[in-house]
Amino acid sequence: MATTLPAGIDFDEIQGNILGGFFKDHQMLLFLHFTDADLARLWVRDITPDVATSAEVTAFNDAFKVVGKRGGRRSAPIKATWINVAFTHTGLAALGVAQADLDAFPDDFKEGMAARAALLGDDGASDPANWIAPLGSPSVHAVVILASDEANDLREATNGVTNDLTKYGVDLLYQQSGEARTDQPGHEHFGFDDGVSQPGVLGVTPAQNPADPNQGQPGQDLLQPGEFVIGYERQPQPTPPVPQPGQPGYAPVPTPSPSPSPSAAFADPKPPLTKNGSYLVFRRLRQDVPAFHSFVLEQAAAHGVTNEVMGAKLVGRYASGAPLEPLKDDPIPAVGEPNAGDPAVDHPEILDFSHINNFEYGADQDGGHVPRAAHIRKAYPRDQAIPGEAETQTHRILRRGVAYGKSYDLDAARGAADDDRGLLFLCYQTSIQQQFEFVQSRWVNTPAFPEPDDGHDPIISQKDEEKSITIPLAGQSVHISFIQRWVTTTGGEYFFQPSLSALTALSARSTPPT
Ligand code: HEM
Repeated sequence: MATTLPAGIDFDEIQGNILGGFFKDHQMLLFLHFTDADLARLWVRDITPDVATSAEVTAFNDAFKVVGKRGGRRSAPIKATWINVAFTHTGLAALGVAQADLDAFPDDFKEGMAARAALLGDDGASDPANWIAPLGSPSVHAVVILASDEANDLREATNGVTNDLTKYGVDLLYQQSGEARTDQPGHEHFGFDDGVSQPGVLGVTPAQNPADPNQGQPGQDLLQPGEFVIGYERQPQPTPPVPQPGQPGYAPVPTPSPSPSPSAAFADPKPPLTKNGSYLVFRRLRQDVPAFHSFVLEQAAAHGVTNEVMGAKLVGRYASGAPLEPLKDDPIPAVGEPNAGDPAVDHPEILDFSHINNFEYGADQDGGHVPRAAHIRKAYPRDQAIPGEAETQTHRILRRGVAYGKSYDLDAARGAADDDRGLLFLCYQTSIQQQFEFVQSRWVNTPAFPEPDDGHDPIISQKDEEKSITIPLAGQSVHISFIQRWVTTTGGEYFFQPSLSALTALSARSTPPT
């Protein structure tokens, strides 16, 4: 099948996980340390031909969808194994990048995730002091992401990369595998479908909503590519950029050291190092499945709703992925009544491409359907009045996560509660500070966002203090306090994922690009 890619975006230059998205069931992250700049540059040179581009991955994903329709996802007779590579700031220094270029990167990337723990709320159990070594330490110079449809292919590709490392003076510091759940494919460990909503990208995502030419899938707004790949047009930037003290939506959080304004930094990307590249945020998030489920069960019983509805009020969607918010122009009945089950049981069509994401919050400002602090509404408030849709669209991320660890079987109570399982959260953006960090610190962790007493994102908020969430239920405002965190940060890092020609430039023996 020939895929025609839209003109204007350099798909052959952009690494494949950024715009295509690997979305493979079997993935491996290799965290590397360079001991010798010359040898490390040779390593970059020799791995570059194996690096998958967005052209390849997009073409494969399109073909996979077409072929997959024939007989379900597992029987699709095509498969692929992909490799991508990204560097920390210390890694770029270890490769010998010129000091002036190193200095030109924004402070968020230069400092790395561990140094930004106060901003992110990573304290207590999530404090970088408790992270799995060496994650978050300056010795991590690069990450190789491998992804495959088949476990054996992934193993072979991983061996191919790791067997070679010593001859390039590269140390393998840590390796982390990610695996889609076999009992509930596509679902994260709390049991919710986790592959539903992504930003649409102009020039990448086809406009497929007959009712709205500015959307990809119905409900999926199309954004400028410069939000995700450096060197392209960005969304109109908000003025002022964030709510100020005294303004609605202001949330006091520790102020990070000033970064160059993203628009200034990216308007004239330093060729060829950053053009067609993207920043990658990695977070290793451990999930305490039995504790989360006990909480859902207790709160459902205490407030007279089904477990399905209580879970959906916390996440913002039902476990099947079915929306809790009534759909636009859609005959499927409003959902979320206290005694309701998951609506996808009676209305499986709600999970179709045309329905599953086709909602906004504008008609639900008080959160009667999706509470304002539910995970998906905190992380992407759509057209909610605060902060307003135009600003919201400047804080979007392309999520590329994959689950890790064995499932906890709630019915059979199998699997030790303390087994390590969770999400390898990966996301791409052109400004870590304005996108991932903003979402985590100003929205998710901030109980006064969007309005006072709305509460914390009950799924991923960090900070050890007592947490709470307000859930309007049957006309009553129910305020639930809780002190546990079900999701703990056990490692993380900020990477820069260069274009293919920047990889070639980085590997050159001559002085790297200025
Ligand atoms: C273990 C940790 C996490 C779990 C269990 C989790 C779970 C989910 C689920 C079930 C969905 C709904 C399905 C979908 O739209 O794909 C979702 C959506 C989303 N999550 Fe998370 N997530 C986690 C971490 C994070 C983090 C760290 C962030 C960013 C700071 C984040 C941001 C988002 C966003 C932006 C959406 C899409 C919202 C929308 O477009 O409506 N998530 N997540």
